[in-house]
Amino acid sequence: MQLLEKIQNLKKERKAVILAHNYQPAEIQDLADFKGDSLGLSIEAAKSNAEVIVFCGVHFMAETAAILSPQKTVLLPEKHAGCPMANMINAEQLKMLKQHHPDAVVVCYVNSSAAVKAESDYCCTSANTVEVVNSLGKDKKIIFVPDQYLGQFAAQKTGRNLILWPGYCPTHVTITEDDIKKAKAEHPAAIVMAHPECTEPVKKLADQLLSTSQMIKFVTKSTAKEYIVATENGIIHSLKKQRPDAKFYPATERALCPNMKKITLDKIITSLETMEPKITVPEDIRLRAKRAVDRMIEILPSK
Ligand code: 13P
Ligand code: SF4
Repeated sequence: MQLLEKIQNLKKERKAVILAHNYQPAEIQDLADFKGDSLGLSIEAAKSNAEVIVFCGVHFMAETAAILSPQKTVLLPEKHAGCPMANMINAEQLKMLKQHHPDAVVVCYVNSSAAVKAESDYCCTSANTVEVVNSLGKDKKIIFVPDQYLGQFAAQKTGRNLILWPGYCPTHVTITEDDIKKAKAEHPAAIVMAHPECTEPVKKLADQLLSTSQMIKFVTKSTAKEYIVATENGIIHSLKKQRPDAKFYPATERALCPNMKKITLDKIITSLETMEPKITVPEDIRLRAKRAVDRMIEILPSK
């Protein structure tokens, strides 16, 4: 209780807002002013009037907030909270790929560095990938980076032939086809919700392919009483809060993102006290990256 009070006082003093991703530890989700998926958090970061944004998530998320709101101070309470998938491609590698396909447009997943976004034409999140790809002319050649599995999902849903990069999320690929088969055998009435970052065999067994906030929205409307959840298990806290009457089974206990769990209440306090670690983006990169990110937040998902 003392820690929570301290955070509330510091928040007022610094005119700060706390944003948390759906994979954050339960106590952090509960104290956040806004909780959401990558798209929702980006929109919130852009429209917030706060002077300081405390980003409880991973580095690329805080960087996206800094791209959208350069006048605000963006704090990431643990500077080593990175995203291994985002680190699977850098700007030099993307430039080389573009040289091989000079007539292609580049769509990058928001799970990428600011430098990669600066080399891209469009950015997207798992909530609006299909809508972003569909917004591009049918004759356009498209490079999609860095998540091969989200790219495959977009290719299937749109019927487009995308040039993919072999990136992946180490947390989502730990969920296997056998995990889903086993969970379905144990809970035959359950609806399987999977994140598009999962591998193809897992997605084939799913009833619903959804971003994290889309999963939360889906269970509030659905009348089913049981769900198998194939994404990072931190989301189960929010799902249970939405539907205390329903049962949620993780596809596997292994689906935990160690980086998402690096943020703690103590680190939020230290961050608000010291106003560090600050996340900033060099202005030339920020301006180029912002074009792609602005396009992402303009294209709303259909679900
Ligand atoms: P969403 O919350 O946008 O679905 O993203 C999932 C993810 O892996 C974020 O790192
Ligand atoms: Fe990156 Fe995967 Fe962790 Fe999301 S869950 S931050 S994609 S490693």
